[in-house]
Amino acid sequence: MSGIAGGLTLDELDSDLHAVLARLRSDRPVAWVPVLNGWLVTRRDLVVGMMRDPVTFTVDDPRFSTGQVVGPSMLSLDGPEHVRHRSPFGEAFTVPEVRQRFEAFVHAEAGRLVAELAPLGAAELRRDLAGPLAVNVVAEALGLVDTDPDEVLGWYDQIVDAVSRASTGQALTAARPPAVDRLADHVRESMAVGDSLVALAARTLSVDEVVSNAAVLMFGGIETSEGMTTNAFAHLLAQPATWQTLVDEPSLVGNAVEESLRLEPAVVQVDRFATRDLEVAGARIRRGDFVMLSIAGANRDPAAYPDPDRFDIARSNARTHLAFAQGPHACVGIHLAKLETRAALLAAVDGFPGLSSAAPAAPARGVVFRKPASVHVRWRFG
Ligand code: HEM
Repeated sequence: MSGIAGGLTLDELDSDLHAVLARLRSDRPVAWVPVLNGWLVTRRDLVVGMMRDPVTFTVDDPRFSTGQVVGPSMLSLDGPEHVRHRSPFGEAFTVPEVRQRFEAFVHAEAGRLVAELAPLGAAELRRDLAGPLAVNVVAEALGLVDTDPDEVLGWYDQIVDAVSRASTGQALTAARPPAVDRLADHVRESMAVGDSLVALAARTLSVDEVVSNAAVLMFGGIETSEGMTTNAFAHLLAQPATWQTLVDEPSLVGNAVEESLRLEPAVVQVDRFATRDLEVAGARIRRGDFVMLSIAGANRDPAAYPDPDRFDIARSNARTHLAFAQGPHACVGIHLAKLETRAALLAAVDGFPGLSSAAPAAPARGVVFRKPASVHVRWRFG
């Protein structure tokens, strides 16, 4: 195939993602990318239209790797079945519910992690703060009784491993890794607890369905939130004057988080399957084709965001980014995830005086989930 998409390698996408996406967007906004074995859509208006059209671009396909591992869940269903699986969780994660159920916990947890690190004077923020916060918040959100975060992390690793093997076409040793059964045991026990999230979900879903969706919440909420918080620190600390602006005016934290999500969304793209033949922006998509909607591409579309590669916490339309997708599959954890990153940043403003980078920032990497490997920092102590 001719054009830049034909010769693209995974390495190039990983190391030079945004430049590649910019070239594709202006050259061929719906491009067949042989190395991904699918179409890659990079223009914001097209991405939004496809996210909002689940009839033509569905997630409900046997090739969907998460579905193979955890069974049918909201992530791999469309139409009325999707609504049935998603509703009990959607209701628990609205703004007022998140405020009431999780706000105090998330701030306390971020404060606790920062207070533990404070005497050290230095840390690596991905491993020491963003990661543990993400695991602890998901464990709390699921409302599972008697689980410790290390156990949750162990289940998570098994599920991620199985999903990755399924999505790269390697044979699964078991359709269901043992972690899903351990999770199922805990879900059953926790259903007895009146207002836990899984108990609420069990009013309208079978036990197996609650388990699949709980696994998806875990899968959807750990790596992503860790990446989101890590990226926000990386962007803010790369511009010391911007970090200082936030220290002086913490009320800017909300828009700073939105702008960070725009510039480097932790989830780079979402996957769909075309249900019919159609032509879009000169591309002839066939029924059954794999179509990837590039969130990272849409979020730097210059038609929506002037000077799109610049990190500007005052950008007025930062919150129109697509980091959490749009349409029926828009992230169910949006408000919880934003609360988490805001809490981490505010805890660092309070607890790490004079916070600055301790090493040149590692670049963000990843073709599906994207973040820097590490963010080494130091602050004044004593
Ligand atoms: C507390 C943390 C989080 C939880 C519990 C969570 C949970 C979920 C769930 C259950 C879904 C599936 C919704 C559906 O298919 O109807 C979803 C979708 C999604 N989430 Fe999250 N998520 C979290 C954080 C994040 C973060 C931090 C990001 C990225 C910055 C993110 C990006 C997405 C995207 C892009 C989708 C759409 C998937 C698609 O359209 O195929 N999520 N999330």
